[in-house]
Amino acid sequence: MEVYNLYCLSVKKVKKFNNIAIIEFDREIRGYPGQFIMLNVFGFEEIPLSLSSPKTITVKNVGKTTNRVVNTKEGDVFGIRGPFGRPFSYPDVEKIYLIAGGIGIAPLNYLYEYFKDEIEVIAIHGVKTKEELIYDYPEVATEDGSVGFRGNAVELFLKLADFKEEFRVYSCGPKPMLLSLYKIMKKLGKLESLEVSLENYMRCGIGLCGSCVTESGARVCRDGPTFKGTDVSEKDFI
Ligand SMILES: Cc1cc2nc3c(=O)[nH]c(=O)nc-3n(C[C@H](O)[C@H](O)[C@H](O)COP(=O)(O)OP(=O)(O)OC[C@H]3O[C@@H](n4cnc5c(N)ncnc54)[C@H](O)[C@@H]3O)c2cc1C
Ligand code: FES
Repeated sequence: MEVYNLYCLSVKKVKKFNNIAIIEFDREIRGYPGQFIMLNVFGFEEIPLSLSSPKTITVKNVGKTTNRVVNTKEGDVFGIRGPFGRPFSYPDVEKIYLIAGGIGIAPLNYLYEYFKDEIEVIAIHGVKTKEELIYDYPEVATEDGSVGFRGNAVELFLKLADFKEEFRVYSCGPKPMLLSLYKIMKKLGKLESLEVSLENYMRCGIGLCGSCVTESGARVCRDGPTFKGTDVSEKDFI
């Protein structure tokens, strides 16, 4: 039988930016970068959310449940299962690139915080417009050119990266962005240096219901959500 943590946490602080909020809980959730929790929003649904640091989640309002979460107040209580899933792997190199598209910044921020004092971490955040920039990273790309590089996060990565160097790439964001990065790394023969986090629709979070299965048969909640470039195919980004 599956054993997992099930508990309640209350909200200590909320930092709100238009339709996104960084929500800090009153205590740490024991997990690792890349793992996710199932957040039980009482009266709404239970939804998967990445840890954006040991004490925080970073949530974008896209529907009924995330609307409730983004508009949460100090002292509100949520139910939590987890953390679940495979964390990002430990980087065995001195330099890593984090490539985030939109709210894909959530799991990568935790990775950034985890390794920034140990190795060189270049965090690239791509968004549509500057209003969506919620973290203070130097490398930003906006589609409308309102700040930083005009274009997307993958294009900025291609501009910054020296492919003669040894590095690892961690990425999370919309599937079309991940697919374009996957194709580039494959063409360069560098799929072993790539790791992506997939955000397929989930129900149980523990490998039982099948709702998160990718086209190639992987259960994202159990086999992922982080996958090595060599363990996925183009079908997984559909
Ligand atoms: C492992 C994992 C980690 C995630 N981490 C985060 C996070 O850190 N921050 C965050 O804001 N969101 C994250 N998500 C996405 C989040 O779970 C969904 O946005 C949420 O479940 C939507 O619920 P809702 O009731 O508000 O919207 P719904 O009414 O259920 O859906 C609204 C819209 O969002 C789309 N949608 C629903 N679920 C997903 C999904 N999983 N991926 C993409 N689009 C979806 C629907 O197709 C619909 O168009 C993560 C998802 C997974 C699987
Ligand atoms: S969410 Fe149920 S199997 Fe993955």
